Amino acid sequence: MIRLASMAVLLALLSPGAVACPVPDASAIAQDDAASDASAKVDFVKDVLPIFRARCFECHSGDSDEGDLRLDLKTNVFDDERSDPAIKPGAPKESSIYRRIVLPADDSDIMPAEGDPLTKAQIAIIERWIREGASWPDGAVQPVEAKKPPEILRVPELDDERTALVEDAVKRVRAAGGTATKVAATSNAWYVNIGLLGKKLDDTRLGELLAGLEPALVWLNLGRTAVSDEGASRLADFGELRRLQLQGTAITDRALVAVGKLAKLEYLNLYDTSITDAGLEHLEGLMALTRLFVWQTKVTEAGARAFAGAIPGLKIDLGASANDLAAVAKRIEEASRPVNDLCPITGKKVDPKKTFAYEGKTIALCCSDCLQKFAKDPKTWFPKVVFRDANSAATAEPEATPVLLNAKCPVSGEPANAEHSIRVGDAAIGFCCGKCKAKFEAELAKHPEAKARFVGK
Ligand code: HEC
Repeated sequence: MIRLASMAVLLALLSPGAVACPVPDASAIAQDDAASDASAKVDFVKDVLPIFRARCFECHSGDSDEGDLRLDLKTNVFDDERSDPAIKPGAPKESSIYRRIVLPADDSDIMPAEGDPLTKAQIAIIERWIREGASWPDGAVQPVEAKKPPEILRVPELDDERTALVEDAVKRVRAAGGTATKVAATSNAWYVNIGLLGKKLDDTRLGELLAGLEPALVWLNLGRTAVSDEGASRLADFGELRRLQLQGTAITDRALVAVGKLAKLEYLNLYDTSITDAGLEHLEGLMALTRLFVWQTKVTEAGARAFAGAIPGLKIDLGASANDLAAVAKRIEEASRPVNDLCPITGKKVDPKKTFAYEGKTIALCCSDCLQKFAKDPKTWFPKVVFRDANSAATAEPEATPVLLNAKCPVSGEPANAEHSIRVGDAAIGFCCGKCKAKFEAELAKHPEAKARFVGK
């Protein structure tokens, strides 16, 4: 039953309505708006797109993809490889687009990056649209044409013999259930996704399927397969690779020796692997690299920063580190300890495993019967709870300034501020600013293993 209690804590943590939000709260405005026009849902084409066009497209469409974000491309906006999704349907506060537009005007991260902030009405429309599920009909936006014709990616010309080997490999990949596609009709470069084979794809199978594709393969997806260091070591022969996905595989730092030889690599996804800072050193020669995903790995923030310095133009997606989450999870676990020693129903000593979460507190009961009784009618029994620590009762007031569990913001390392905090039972986790808090909440929602720490014990 502790499960129940901590789950409630977690839910309180994750449900944006339950915590005081430091971001100017547009939901209140949106509600007014909704009240005046209760029946109609926000219409993407009529209501939202004009705002994007007028205030965002300049930097986020066509040739301009600042922050790797193009608001004229649905697939880019809803790209599920972003650790910080641009739009998470139903959850404005987990959507970076929303979080960026509600920042204070003097915040250097506010969007639009130039000119006045969006108006309250515009923010409310976007908030409501995301909350209502962010519907974006296919074809609703005509992608803005690039001013210069896109360069079609090609690999050096292959002779007939080489071409035949490539074609054989393509057939094998397709027969095995993977996809193999040319990057453009007029290109000789190939994209292969064999992540689709999942754990059926091991090192041996990888070698069998890809043999022959060495000079033609530019994108390769091996995500979530059973490929390990041995298989990855063969990738050194695929010198044309621009984009490589190894997320969720068993690779370690050793595999990065081979990856470090792929001089044309621009995009590398190592999310959810056990690579470390030491492994990144093998990648220091990859001067074309612009995007590296290392969240949920053992890479530290300091290690990532140092590495980003080595490659100009590289953007590293680190997420909140597992260590930060683990430390905070532990504090939360401590904070979700029962507030009472005696059962409010029988007056007997409590069983610390029989707990119920109510009013942000973990109440312990003496037995399962009492737990059920309490759960059925908490309003009656809650006033009978004798708090071990008289202060606990006092801090039950939601308005009271929370006691911070941490001195430093788990996201930035800057001093934590009680104004930006997430309440946990009697206390709170503090952040240095609303941005870090929102980032942490969004991150936590996506970390099943961190969540498991909250709900598992
Ligand atoms: C004058 C240029 C400019 C305008 C206009 C602009 N942005 Fe940006 N935007 C940037 C730049 C530069 C970055 C990358 C640096 C950063 O992350 O701050 C960025 C990054 C972002 C990101 C983060 C992307 C990521 O995942 O890293 C979001 C979200 C975003 N913009 C949303 C918007 C929205 C929504 C609008 C319109 C309301 C907008 N921007 C208007 C320049 C602009």
